[in-house]
Amino acid sequence: MRHEPVLLEEAVQALAVQPGGRYVDATVGSGGHAAAILENSAPGGQLLGIDADPGAITAAGESLKDYRDSLRLVCDHFSNLKDICMRYDFLPVHGILFDLGLSSMQLDDRERGFSFQVDAPLDMRRHPDQEITAADIINRYSEAELESILREYGEEPSSRRIAHRVVAARPLNTTIELANLVETAVGPGRGHIHPATRTFQALRIAVNRELEQLEQALKQAVEILGFEGRLVVISYHSLEDRIVKRFMQREAVDCICPPQVLDCVCQHQATLRMLSRKVSKPSPFEVKRNPRSRSARLRAAERIAVAEESFADYLNILAGNGSRVWRKPVLIEKLRQTFLALEVTNLRM
Ligand SMILES: C[S@@+](CC[C@H](N)C(=O)[O-])C[C@H]1O[C@@H](n2cnc3c(N)ncnc32)[C@H](O)[C@@H]1O
Repeated sequence: MRHEPVLLEEAVQALAVQPGGRYVDATVGSGGHAAAILENSAPGGQLLGIDADPGAITAAGESLKDYRDSLRLVCDHFSNLKDICMRYDFLPVHGILFDLGLSSMQLDDRERGFSFQVDAPLDMRRHPDQEITAADIINRYSEAELESILREYGEEPSSRRIAHRVVAARPLNTTIELANLVETAVGPGRGHIHPATRTFQALRIAVNRELEQLEQALKQAVEILGFEGRLVVISYHSLEDRIVKRFMQREAVDCICPPQVLDCVCQHQATLRMLSRKVSKPSPFEVKRNPRSRSARLRAAERIAVAEESFADYLNILAGNGSRVWRKPVLIEKLRQTFLALEVTNLRM
């Protein structure tokens, strides 16, 4: 099935895509969002597309061939975001998009094992060079480790029972074997949700270290965004969305000391402004047209200028050089204003 980009208009709008802008699509997939970004950033726009799945990079290359001159595609994990942008001299950027999770191509692939609806080996790796497969976890991890993965990454209430059954039934080699085992362990499930959904989510997260990857990438995203650049994240389950929400909330405040600390000791400085407190969700019309969009949540924030840290470094250099400026508060304040104004100009793209 062709991958239908989710919350497409909302994402382009939240990125504030402008002609001549420089954008990173950190999860380029088959290029649906990327095409819209390239379309809206013409003339002169550029896009760096990243995906850990070599098949996605091939698909994006094909679907975006008309934009070849404005495009660079890189097969890598987005936890290497900053290095990738530095390697390709792609800094600072006007916007970064993360559209997390899986593409329809990956779900439908008969070799990958991401879906319990397609009979396939228990693999679930995004890139074939990754060492651990879902089969390794299912067949080699201890019952306690398995239970903890299902509980933490799947929020599975029956984690203990499923882990116990898996260990008793080893070896399990295919998606359907595992899905059937989970169904017999916990019953048929309610509504449209298959009882193995949480187990498959948990395994995929563990195999690809998805939550760590996301945390690392968000930190780097802030570092490569220029002043007023936009960070837009579409997530598909509560664990991812919680990480994104907490990250943006934390980066939007100047002090993160616990409430009982009256005088700030953390020296934390806000780097982002949240564009909206609420998440954007797909409309009922989009969910009807594309049921895979139903759990999508979009959050967006804008980079603000932070130059205080480098100003502190600058003062230390002056002090180290024997300058007396740093002892005079009035002069320091004047210097600070000039310094911050200059830094903001440098960040502005
Ligand atoms: C929902 S799809 C993106 C679809 C894309 N926006 C489109 O319109 O075609 C998510 C993509 O992110 C990729 N991905 C997920 N985690 C990744 C990571 N840590 N590093 C790089 N790519 C990742 C997946 O391989 C997949 O192709």
